[in-house]
Amino acid sequence: MGSLLLDSPELRARYDRVSTRQFEHGKQLIQELGIGHGQRVLDVGCGTGLLGVYVAGLVGTHGLVVGVDPVPLRVTLARLRAQAHFQVHLGRAEELDALESDSFDAAFLNSVIHCLDDRETVLTGIYRVLRAGGKVGFTAIDRDRPGSFHLAHQQAILAAGLRKRAKSLLAARPLLSAAEAQDLLTSTGFRAVSVHTRTQVDHFYDTDDLLDFHLESSFDAQLPDFDLNDERRLRQALKRELERNRGPKGVEQERHIIFAIGEKPYTS
Ligand SMILES: C[S@@+](CC[C@H](N)C(=O)[O-])C[C@H]1O[C@@H](n2cnc3c(N)ncnc32)[C@H](O)[C@@H]1O
Repeated sequence: MGSLLLDSPELRARYDRVSTRQFEHGKQLIQELGIGHGQRVLDVGCGTGLLGVYVAGLVGTHGLVVGVDPVPLRVTLARLRAQAHFQVHLGRAEELDALESDSFDAAFLNSVIHCLDDRETVLTGIYRVLRAGGKVGFTAIDRDRPGSFHLAHQQAILAAGLRKRAKSLLAARPLLSAAEAQDLLTSTGFRAVSVHTRTQVDHFYDTDDLLDFHLESSFDAQLPDFDLNDERRLRQALKRELERNRGPKGVEQERHIIFAIGEKPYTS
């Protein structure tokens, strides 16, 4: 089954479709990090490598991008894009021990922070592998500014009569506030260079396309662990809510994304 899935062009296309929206804010993150020619860059949670290969183009053949991701299928897909100066390794952000200390100019986590159980350990590991003056950057959905999917989700929960479960759903959202992003940088030794929130508007072909995005990326909100019947009701209610945001370019989604940049100080 696994190898069949690996061979599926559909699956790759689906991953790439999800990555396209993340790619947009990923490029902004890379710009804020000031990544350029000849740099050595660590792409933590590289996924299928869409952003990693873009960064490899920026650093050129005198630079290097090292991608790390724990999901074998994603790593396999990313390796299809790998080049001499874009290497991809299977591994977790919490375990960067194989990488040399002070060996990278920059590191980034695009749409990855929400997946991590122990963010401090990850940022501490990144601090070790960066040279003094090296920069880390990450994006995260701003918990204090719910996006249009989240608002539709809340409405759908009420419309489907599943209100009681909504509380636990909200509590389970593993998102960050801008203040927490700033604390995460400073508590792990970085100087916070900038932490700010930007709004990104994406368009989706239809509501299934949009739901796919959320289920694949888990970046904003997830469908809770309901039984099948409840889930079906919620899905229908959610699709009706999301359909309200249809415009001339398709179903619109607004997200508020934190961009956080930190620098490893020259003296600690
Ligand atoms: C939403 S995707 C983002 C992928 C990519 N950074 C991008 O911009 O398209 C989140 C990625 O984080 C990875 N991830 C999850 N847990 C991780 C961990 N503990 N360490 C490193 N990456 C992790 C997932 O496998 C997935 O590829």
